[in-house]
Amino acid sequence: MSAMQKLMGWIDDRLPLTATYKAHLSEYYAPKNFNFWYFFGSLALLVLVIQIVTGIFLTMNYKPDSELAFLSVEYIMRDVEWGWLIRYIHSTGASMFFVVVYLHMFRGLMYGSYRKPRELIWIFGVLIYLMLMAEAFLGYLLPWGQMSYWGAQVIVNLFAAVPIIGEDLSIWIRGDYVIGDATLNRFFAFHVIALPLVLLALVMVHLVALHEVGSNNPDGVEIKKKKDPKTGIPLDGIPFHPYYTVKDIVGVIVFLMVFSAILFFAPEMGGYFLEAANFVPADPLKTPEHIAPLWYFTPFYAILRAVPPLFGSQFPGVVAMGMSIVLLFFLPWLDRSKVKSIRYRGPIYKAFLAAFIVSFVGLGYLGLLPSTPVATIFAQVFSVIYFLFFLLMPWYTSIDKTKPEPERVTG
Ligand code: HEM
Repeated sequence: MSAMQKLMGWIDDRLPLTATYKAHLSEYYAPKNFNFWYFFGSLALLVLVIQIVTGIFLTMNYKPDSELAFLSVEYIMRDVEWGWLIRYIHSTGASMFFVVVYLHMFRGLMYGSYRKPRELIWIFGVLIYLMLMAEAFLGYLLPWGQMSYWGAQVIVNLFAAVPIIGEDLSIWIRGDYVIGDATLNRFFAFHVIALPLVLLALVMVHLVALHEVGSNNPDGVEIKKKKDPKTGIPLDGIPFHPYYTVKDIVGVIVFLMVFSAILFFAPEMGGYFLEAANFVPADPLKTPEHIAPLWYFTPFYAILRAVPPLFGSQFPGVVAMGMSIVLLFFLPWLDRSKVKSIRYRGPIYKAFLAAFIVSFVGLGYLGLLPSTPVATIFAQVFSVIYFLFFLLMPWYTSIDKTKPEPERVTG
């Protein structure tokens, strides 16, 4: 027995290292028909690590103080060795996180990955999505630029629209009557430690739940139903390592190429990843002309603005915006189709999904623009389609004419 084997034996007697490696990698059987849509889970993990590592280095020079925050970011950009790179990786990483997660969620929609027995994977996913939005929102205040300040002001003011307790609630969140030093300090605490811990824990349970039931695949066929009688290995499964570890490297390389291209050639991405107004220090006495959130929040911002105020209160819009996300949790129970994957769904589901995507992207676009009467009408139509996609789902998925699912995965 080699010294290495002896060492592994010693460790395995005390910690299930080899057993865990086998159960989750070399003897974890994933469907053999994953396509490129299955890259985005591992890419989300990669971006999570990138954000944590660059975040740690940013924290070394950033000052969470309303007098110093903006200057400390300028200092990072100009004087700290490679500081500009670390900051741009972190700011580009935030947007790319949402690109990856939106594609990851869309894959789930297309292949019915949220359906039984994967409901909890999906629910943890939606919680991750919520945490990610909170994390991005809090992080955006930290540079203490004009858009950081006024964006936070607008969003925290939404809480003031809650009947009865609203006013007190928004003061409690800010720790002041306006966004101020106390707000910056608490947002910093939540952004750098509280939410990352929650995010990591959620990603952990997301993956534990995934490995309990196994991955879905583009055919939506359960590979565990057809196992080799002798070995008990799914006939359509292949070991995650080396097959998918190697395949995922291809996704990582392509992703890093796109990431670097943005990072080095267009880190502001024309104002979509970093807004021009945020290069101006926060001024509580001067409201910017047009306040818009970053692109990944704009679909929800458009829903908020599409709902008319009631007796001068924005509360109905806030409720609609909240509901547009809460509905995601119920997806596993709203879908009544006999099949999971879009490959075997009928024309009605496909039409609804297409309308939903057009509406979501449309809302995202409208949320970037200043509101005008025409834009508001479009936003209202898109919002109605967005909600109907969910609310009518039990009906249209049960009447839709599906194709029979194959016994085994194809391709
Ligand atoms: C930090 C964010 C996230 C990370 C790191 C992450 C990670 C992963 C990984 C590694 C997988 C397995 C590989 C794959 O199927 O692509 C996976 C699967 C899955 N994720 Fe996520 N995820 C994240 C966010 C989300 C969100 C926001 C949702 C949905 C709201 C979601 C829903 C799912 C579902 C349904 C599966 C199973 C897919 C299938 O088997 O077809 N995830 N996730």
